[in-house]
Amino acid sequence: MCGIFAYAGGKDAVSVLVDGLSSLEYRGYDSAGVFLPKSGAVKTVGAVDNLKKKLSQQPLEGTSGIAHLRWATHGEPTEINAHPHHDNNKEVWVVHNGIIENYKELREALKKHGCNFVSDTDTEVIAHLISYNLAKLNDFEKAVTKSLNELKGTYGLAVSWKKEPEKIIGARMGAPVVLGLGDGENFIASDTTPILRHTKNVIYLHDGEVAVITPSSHNIYNLNHDIINKQAEVIEWSAEQAQKSGYEHFMLKEIMEGPEVVRNTLRGRLIVDSGLAKLGGLESVKEKLKEIERIIIVGCGTAFYAGLIGEYMLEEYAGIPVEVEVGSEFRYRKPIINDKTILLAVSQSGETADTLEAIREAKRKGALTLGIVNTVGSTIARETDAGIYNHAGPEIGVASTKAFISQITALALFTLFLGRQRQMSLVTGKRIAEELLALPQKMEKVLSQKEAIKKIAEKYAGHKDFLYIGRKYNYPIAYEGALKLKEVSYAHAEGYGAGEMKHGPLAMIDENFPTMAISPQDSVYEKMASNIQEIKARKGPVIAIATEGDEEIKQLAQDVIYIPKALEMLTPVLTIIPLQLFAYYFAKARGCSIDRPRNLAKSVTVE
Ligand code: AGP
Ligand code: GLU
Repeated sequence: MCGIFAYAGGKDAVSVLVDGLSSLEYRGYDSAGVFLPKSGAVKTVGAVDNLKKKLSQQPLEGTSGIAHLRWATHGEPTEINAHPHHDNNKEVWVVHNGIIENYKELREALKKHGCNFVSDTDTEVIAHLISYNLAKLNDFEKAVTKSLNELKGTYGLAVSWKKEPEKIIGARMGAPVVLGLGDGENFIASDTTPILRHTKNVIYLHDGEVAVITPSSHNIYNLNHDIINKQAEVIEWSAEQAQKSGYEHFMLKEIMEGPEVVRNTLRGRLIVDSGLAKLGGLESVKEKLKEIERIIIVGCGTAFYAGLIGEYMLEEYAGIPVEVEVGSEFRYRKPIINDKTILLAVSQSGETADTLEAIREAKRKGALTLGIVNTVGSTIARETDAGIYNHAGPEIGVASTKAFISQITALALFTLFLGRQRQMSLVTGKRIAEELLALPQKMEKVLSQKEAIKKIAEKYAGHKDFLYIGRKYNYPIAYEGALKLKEVSYAHAEGYGAGEMKHGPLAMIDENFPTMAISPQDSVYEKMASNIQEIKARKGPVIAIATEGDEEIKQLAQDVIYIPKALEMLTPVLTIIPLQLFAYYFAKARGCSIDRPRNLAKSVTVE
């Protein structure tokens, strides 16, 4: 989820672009860069402050240009991989947000035409492709449109060509692009944040639309280069609201991004007809994975709970023994590891010290180390032998929400990958692939109930203690749901396996102690229903997460939140959403500091 920003006007473009990038920093901070067709490019690793420093030593001049903040997906966060990317002649320059799925094929074809690639990014092919088409068509706009028709994947783009320095072309396919219309100046950006400092008149591009701006004009085309008429809208948000897409907190924004995140984690990774997962990051260890006899999953907090769900999936569908452990315990045990063991680390930040030390210890003992990591080029991504990137985009809220959902999705892909290397049938493989692809729509249905969930959260806002219970795939969800409530609201919440209630915690239940029962209609539903009965018999209030059509549960629970039916192993992706929303609205009702809870940090780099 990078930030792109482009300017065509009469002011000093560097100041406008750098100022705009600062407001986009929440979209990424791996590297930053600008290109001005009149004077050249400057790029740095890290965020905008580094770029500012470098620009003070290497000033650029001009009144138009493009700029970028990177959140890496392909290639580590180095200066070479920083955007803007260019063609051989350094004439065509591109900034990009998204992933080009067919970049390998395009790169091979373009190399045969003499293109020299300097970076590891997918983005660079766009610059070479436009340049190649430009040489044939000698028309900037047509060359861009032709190139866009050859790309597969997602993009929010801005393109600059040295020979027409005042013109910038933007385009959108699956990644947001907004046009800002000013007086004698126009803008292209990933969202309205950098634009609102200059104008409130904007046009949101739709997928398949291309915008051409100069200081005095703007035109919008489709991918056939037919002109489209679009009216500008007037935005009343503040720049701060715009960063959060109008949401009050990053946590809510990130919960609402869930469906998009699942699409991004899955993008280009499923071959449905063959029931296969295609995981480029595991290519180098593919053969070795066939020999694996045991998996140890390590993570902390939310990532640990995702790992527990992975245990159920991998044992059920890939038939491999799995154990899951928190990073801070693993290295103090004497784990039994050999060269047929995988240590799989799950981490959003890729920097968690406890997880990292577990990897190092496992490596010393000869395990193959893999990572499911969200942050490209992070320490865990670099130190593991191979892995799967989440592609969830930067997570800003300290409470992990969208990263958790993408971790479960990535674990499902990994299960499909290993399962099909072993005994999993084509039919089962296809079923999992289809169910994965159907998830985003089902998630949207759950998210559409947010107002009802808010009311439930407000109703319980006076309670101090909560129990969260679940079984099998939703046993870890009980823990994760409770963790969310604890983190953002400071209320006391305990996750428990529903079957364990009678072995102790049931003693706490009375009419003031509510229980969140995660009870979709799955293979353990009957047992869950009995556990809920036991709570009801002690007068404990129950909020149930149930499957659509389950009317009986209303007899047992005071409040019910429904999720659509899904493959049992994927239900956690749906059941966690109401619990994330509940925690959010509960904390909001109590006036807590939701995005930055007390005593916590986003990235925990101490042991
Ligand atoms: C989750 O809401 C937390 N803030 C925390 O438990 C987090 O998941 C944990 O610290 C692990 O972080 P990581 O995924 O970046 O490794
Ligand atoms: N794929 C591009 C890169 O890695 C853009 C990443 C993004 O938009 O998240 O540089």
